Amino acid sequence: MNHRTLILLIGIITLTIGVVLLRNFSLIILPSLSTPGITVTIPPKVLTDEQRQQYSAEQRNAFLSIPIAEGIVDFKLTAQKTKLVFEGTNPLQINAWTYNGDNPGQELRITLGQTARVTLTNQLDEPTTIHWHGVRVPNAMDGVPDITQKSVQPGEQFIYEFTPKDAGTYWFHPHYNTSEQIERGLYGALIVEDASKDSFTRDETWVLDDWSIYNNQLYEQFNTPHDLMHDGRWGNLYTVNGAVNHQTTWSPGDRVRLRLINAANARVMKPDFGDLDITVLAIDGIPVSGTVSYDDLELSPGNRIDLAIMIPKDHQRSTMNVLDTYTRNVATLANIVFDDTIVETPEFIWNTDTAVRWNGINQVNADYRIELDVSRGGMHGINWMLNNEVFPYTTPIQLEKDGFTIIDFVNKSSRLHPMHLHGQFFRVIARDDVSIDEPYWRDTVLVNPRETVRIAFSPSDTGTWTMHCHILEHAAAGMMTTMEVK
Ligand code: C2O
Ligand code: CU
Repeated sequence: MNHRTLILLIGIITLTIGVVLLRNFSLIILPSLSTPGITVTIPPKVLTDEQRQQYSAEQRNAFLSIPIAEGIVDFKLTAQKTKLVFEGTNPLQINAWTYNGDNPGQELRITLGQTARVTLTNQLDEPTTIHWHGVRVPNAMDGVPDITQKSVQPGEQFIYEFTPKDAGTYWFHPHYNTSEQIERGLYGALIVEDASKDSFTRDETWVLDDWSIYNNQLYEQFNTPHDLMHDGRWGNLYTVNGAVNHQTTWSPGDRVRLRLINAANARVMKPDFGDLDITVLAIDGIPVSGTVSYDDLELSPGNRIDLAIMIPKDHQRSTMNVLDTYTRNVATLANIVFDDTIVETPEFIWNTDTAVRWNGINQVNADYRIELDVSRGGMHGINWMLNNEVFPYTTPIQLEKDGFTIIDFVNKSSRLHPMHLHGQFFRVIARDDVSIDEPYWRDTVLVNPRETVRIAFSPSDTGTWTMHCHILEHAAAGMMTTMEVK
């Protein structure tokens, strides 16, 4: 399209909108503009094709991932019923479902460039699948029942095979009856190692969860009206790596790479490491560019944060508790013991730049506006809706591969909605119309009550990708849709 046709087209569109506005004058006029006789028509501001192409190229260049290994790594995961034991002052044995009998499931660790081949065997009494949260996989490996694959029936197997495009901290979980299957313990970490290994003396993953315990047993009612009316199922027993009051030992001189994963159904967490020296390395798997203050972050369901924690050589303190401080009911997540074997701190090599310069795009109109809201009705008595639609009766969002897109999430409700996009990383560019420049990518963003969050991204892979609230009870009650990337 040349410039003259473009200008002509914009002219026609402006004129049409003008006429429509005039004809509906009494309906649309805002009280503040209601000076009789004066209409102001503001044409929608749009990005030019050139801008879109440039922003999309910037995103592609921000993800420079150089494979450092090769080959196929085989894993076997069996989803099965397990009597899970929580030790502690009040030992419990709960009716859990796990991968291979463990909670969390075995940590799957590969190196960037390697292919993971995971054979899932379903020994549950109901179907299941595995979704690789945050990993850019081929669409057919994304694990969403009836969208990317048939669900895996009891007694059946399914082989997932993919080569992650990005190093980082990811996790996996079912996408069938998700709010029950995850709550019962089906999840695990997937770590894709990068070249920075030698910068750290320890590399630990903490998978955080909370469980609803009632009468010494897992509360076996799921998607209750209470959970649905509120922010989902918030448990009363915390675990880290399946342990109540998780214990770990660090040493003076350590530089620990700590990978935090929130696997809870609904609880937002904010682990507090007291006065330890913390650097944020990565969010949702992807390295941050520049300095990010850990204090400004929260860990919503689905989110990951990678930290570098430096323990000075003269560290005297013997133990410390790591607390969850998101709510006023501060709870203990873990206990760190510092021993007195001083270790040599390695050189810190961390060369990453995932920055983009999408300045000024808050001035334009969003391509999609998605309202998050609630109504009565439906299977569970409450519908959680995206643009007044409930999954699976939703209208897919149409996107183009590498087509730069802006979406507004408009939270009309008074509840939390950590919105998660499958297969895509995005940036948050504004909250409540105020431009912000988060120097990092995400796959999940917490949309607070009555808040509008504007995100921008450029879809990197074709296919049908799911988008949903990661409060799993909200997703179960309909807060889910798909993006068709062509
Ligand atoms: Cu953890 Cu559909 O995602
Ligand atoms: Cu929600």
